[in-house]
Amino acid sequence: MKPDFELDEEDRTQLIELALEARSHAYAPYSRFLVGASVLTQQGSLFHGCNVENASLGLTICAERVAMGSAISAGFQRFRAICVVSEGGVAPCGACRQFIREFGGDTVILLVDADERSLKKETTIGQLLPDSFSLKS
Ligand code: THU
Repeated sequence: MKPDFELDEEDRTQLIELALEARSHAYAPYSRFLVGASVLTQQGSLFHGCNVENASLGLTICAERVAMGSAISAGFQRFRAICVVSEGGVAPCGACRQFIREFGGDTVILLVDADERSLKKETTIGQLLPDSFSLKS
């Protein structure tokens, strides 16, 4: 049995392809910054999401949270990895880091450059958000 956080090349490829596909559905007419995300659950299921903007800009939902919400609403709460695809392969915003961290510290985060379709960085949510907020001490 692989440790919770370990990924193989097939996992990475599937996550990247799915996030790229999701990015093609991004609704981002205001920022024009397209983001796609994919989630691999502990049980091996895959989910995806894209950013969804709104004329009332604060209502925008990030791709990561759409993907996580999709997985959670299907009954999954343990995540091996989350892949985020964008121009430049940027890291998740602070709100998304807190959102992802809610479900565990070992979740692997893959940051992918959309144009090169290549992995820019592989890290964990615990590394991206040390000393995260929790109601439990
Ligand atoms: N965005 C994401 O989808 N994920 C992030 O982690 C950061 C930002 C989106 C929100 C908005 O639609 C666009 O990128 C520019 O901020």
